[in-house]
Amino acid sequence: MNEITFTINDQAVKARRGWTVLETARECGIHIPTLCHHPAVTPSGACRLCMVELRDGDWAKLVASCIYPAAEGIHVYTDTARVKNVRNWIFQMLLAAAPASREIAELAARHGVTGTRFAAKDPDEMCMVCGLCQRVCEEVVGLSAIAVVDRGVHKRVGAPFMQPTDVCVACGCCVNICPTGAMRKLFDSVRGETATKLTQLAV
Ligand code: SF4
Ligand code: SF4
Ligand code: FES
Repeated sequence: MNEITFTINDQAVKARRGWTVLETARECGIHIPTLCHHPAVTPSGACRLCMVELRDGDWAKLVASCIYPAAEGIHVYTDTARVKNVRNWIFQMLLAAAPASREIAELAARHGVTGTRFAAKDPDEMCMVCGLCQRVCEEVVGLSAIAVVDRGVHKRVGAPFMQPTDVCVACGCCVNICPTGAMRKLFDSVRGETATKLTQLAV
């Protein structure tokens, strides 16, 4: 059977085999906030904003809906107290990681989060290192003009070896897919040209 039936917020939903919980929710018009998800590229589960609760009797756990496969008979909840609490913490962490991103601030405010208790490392930072720019360059454009380097708190994106690269064809996909506005600024470090010039090249 290619069809799966389960529930989201006690409502019966149908998914095709291979869909994730997030894809099914989107198909059914059920809102789950996301930042690092885009249907054009492989999901990575980087931002954790799409957390939902799975319940079965007394048993419950939180999962990232963009990477959790839809399965027969599961019960998914998108707006429980536990989900709202973890979402609040994640928004606060994102606001501290990328305090200069208007996009993150607006999305957080729409979910009732207008400040963070975490200290920002760099008040000008816009990148939350979700990797969408690197994935679209590699998976959709077929190039490797963007790399994610270092680990943990030092993780960042830029050109391979952090040197501007002529591998980039200035297609603009990375700037367009970036959910925080950071790639407009980072594009200098990838190609050595401004995002404004990129936009002119891409049209
Ligand atoms: S530049 Fe944008 S798309 Fe790339 S990792 Fe940073 S936030 Fe994500
Ligand atoms: S503009 Fe350059 S770096 Fe960005 S996706 Fe296109 S080829 Fe890759
Ligand atoms: S949207 Fe699922 S982890 Fe970012």
